[in-house]
Amino acid sequence: MNIRYFDTLESTNNYCKLLDLNTVEEFTVICAGKQTAGIGQQGNVWNSDPYKNLTFSIILKPTFLSTADQYQLTMMLAVAVAKTTMELLPHHPVKIKWPNDIYVSDRKICGILTTATVNHQHIDSAICGIGFNVNQTVFPAWIPNPTSIALQTGQEHDLGLILQSLLKKIENEYLLLRNNPDVLKEQYLKSMYRRGVPSQFKLNEDIFIGTIEGVDRFGHLIINPGKRSFDLKEVQFVI
Ligand code: BTN
Repeated sequence: MNIRYFDTLESTNNYCKLLDLNTVEEFTVICAGKQTAGIGQQGNVWNSDPYKNLTFSIILKPTFLSTADQYQLTMMLAVAVAKTTMELLPHHPVKIKWPNDIYVSDRKICGILTTATVNHQHIDSAICGIGFNVNQTVFPAWIPNPTSIALQTGQEHDLGLILQSLLKKIENEYLLLRNNPDVLKEQYLKSMYRRGVPSQFKLNEDIFIGTIEGVDRFGHLIINPGKRSFDLKEVQFVI
């Protein structure tokens, strides 16, 4: 594994997009102490205080995955982050909130942003960005429901050690994705936020009550009754 640390980057994901991914070694990690224009899901800004949190991207080459299976990468990363968070916060409920977030109770501690390059029917390479809140204890009011490891434990943590542990877990889960994807999916389902619990959802302007059953191979959310399937971000939780 090749870790390249930068004091300041616009965005680690954008930096990776400028690299020639054909020549970059798989598992190259681009990590920044500070991002000046971090990107979140759906074109949002990713806000992170300088040097307080982990903001990094990993380049993967999952050529064994077909284009339709891109969500499996997010699934694999989410399981790895959830396991790392559980190790740091063994007495807290740590959950994977579909589609890309890791939650502690009802608060977001980590977001994942993956973009894949495809070649015919297969994924060629993927830039997997992770923003993991570790030592930040004050967040801007516009961030809906943030938390961090420090807010949960009341103390500062070593970013380098957490990065190492997280990367090790990503390596393990990546192997599982390649060799035993059903086991990976079971782990994902076991940690899924509000799975099996009747919850309110919003679809366009309609609110309805349903119970999450799981996700399909495309990453669509399956909600009962009726095993209705919803595309990424088409449906939202009402918290
Ligand atoms: C989300 O909106 O939840 C996804 C957040 C992803 C943020 C990470 S930080 C490292 C990488 N570089 C970026 O610009 N974004 C991702």
